[in-house]
Amino acid sequence: MRPGRILVDEASIATRLVEMGDEITADYEGKDLLLVAVLKGAFMVVADLARRIRLPIDIDFMGVSSYGVATQTSGVVRILKDLEQEISGRHVLIVEDIIDSGLTLDYLRRNLEVRQPASLEIATLLLKTGIQRVPIEVKYVGFEIPPDFVVGYGLDLVGKMRNLPYVAVMEEE
Ligand code: PRP
Repeated sequence: MRPGRILVDEASIATRLVEMGDEITADYEGKDLLLVAVLKGAFMVVADLARRIRLPIDIDFMGVSSYGVATQTSGVVRILKDLEQEISGRHVLIVEDIIDSGLTLDYLRRNLEVRQPASLEIATLLLKTGIQRVPIEVKYVGFEIPPDFVVGYGLDLVGKMRNLPYVAVMEEE
């Protein structure tokens, strides 16, 4: 397998993140906003998206990983690193690189809701259309994509290729 066709190029990502940043800026004006990036995949999108939000936001990280083989999630989520901050009474925006089955976010949402944030919403760069195994309400979506296996811009194949500046579809050699 190797990265093939570019599905979302660098310029399109940059343009869309400006739009998402504008929307988030308008929606959270005057509120205490905490971005929660889901590691590892979201490290790149949160860095770029945060720079497009014109508010004094705070950022924290959660490390999660779903058990399972390389290309398929199992729905069992392990917390590898918890938040360092209290979120009670704060406006929390979870930032993801991709929503696939939706099981990671379903787990995360329930886990964070218990901590009683003032609000809890989701922003994702990529949303695979029509394949979620649980209903997920996503407030900010960068791009809806087909259910191909994609890498780059934070997304990996067995740990590699996260550093590609675009999103590409994996294809056979
Ligand atoms: C990826 C991605 C999401 C999750 C989405 O993370 O970053 O968190 O899968 O899949 P789902 O909607 O089917 O649950 P992964 O578990 O591969 O960990 P990583 O971000 O460290 O690569």
